[in-house]
Amino acid sequence: MNRLSIIKPDDWHLHLRDSPYMESVVADSARQFSRAIVMPNLNPPVRSCDEAYAYRQRILSALADECQFQPLMTLYLTDNTSREEIVKASKSDFVFAAKLYPAGATTNSDAGVTDVANIYAVLETMQPHSFPLLVHGEATGEEIDVFDREKVFIDRTLNPVRSDFPVLPILWEAISMPYAVDYVESQDDWLGATITPHHLLINRNAMFAGGFHPHHYCLPVAKREEHRLALLKAASGGSTHFFAGTDSAPHARHAKESACGCAGIYSALCAIELYAEAFELAGDFTHFEAFMSLNGPAFYQLPVNSMRVNLERIEWTVPDTLPFAGEELVPFKAGEVLQWKVVTDD
Ligand code: DOR
Ligand code: ZN
Repeated sequence: MNRLSIIKPDDWHLHLRDSPYMESVVADSARQFSRAIVMPNLNPPVRSCDEAYAYRQRILSALADECQFQPLMTLYLTDNTSREEIVKASKSDFVFAAKLYPAGATTNSDAGVTDVANIYAVLETMQPHSFPLLVHGEATGEEIDVFDREKVFIDRTLNPVRSDFPVLPILWEAISMPYAVDYVESQDDWLGATITPHHLLINRNAMFAGGFHPHHYCLPVAKREEHRLALLKAASGGSTHFFAGTDSAPHARHAKESACGCAGIYSALCAIELYAEAFELAGDFTHFEAFMSLNGPAFYQLPVNSMRVNLERIEWTVPDTLPFAGEELVPFKAGEVLQWKVVTDD
């Protein structure tokens, strides 16, 4: 097979940052995707509809006039998020979800939720509005091994929330382990999960190949090879619970290559190609379009896109670095050869 044609996909988990960095990266996502769920973990975070609206305006101003890309905004939940803000968001036509970052779990999560009990009133408000809860699914706490964080998150947070709010749409973003895959598959359609291209393509060895490789450091961290294979099976297996969300998270090269490097992998430059590369490894493109372009809109109850994207089997080399507001950004797979290339939009 040398050609693939799919409905134009959406990115259901994207970090665009803010000016001046956002201007360097937003065109990459806009070229590949119709819509993207834009993460609110700016510094300071996007906590209100007014802040989300202003951020959306900055993103739209950075795009060319003819560009059709739609940023779908999200709110960052804190211990103090009010029910009123959630009602306002659910009635707006530009905020599509609220994100739970357990405080301390990842980049710019310090203002996140310290105990899920603190947002129970908010969840109670979200449920009747079918307003989606997005979760960074890792428990925090120094005593919890990095490979157990998803399991502990299920036991301590997700499972109790699911039983207390059974018809609240919950999207677990960037699952990284088979335990999470099995849990999501065992649940009804109110729970979905996104899978990143990097978790489909690398395991933890990539972080330690030839010395420490900070450009492969992300959260949740890539796990064992058998875990990558389980994710690949979930993504390519046809379950409607799973869909594409890149978690593309740009950090300047110097912020990655430092004593305390930031977590995040920049995949937006060639996200569709990376997913195609992964499905190629799985040896089965049967459910590629559903994973990329159908399951996400179904979860969010949004229309499926009408445009299409074509890919051809063409070898090309990912650039070593990209410009990033006067600094450098190292993309995922920098300097490596990929087998698939997006060729046209029609
Ligand atoms: O690797 C990550 N980077 N994981 C996250 O959860 C956050 C993200 C970021 O914002 O840099
Ligand atoms: Zn993320």
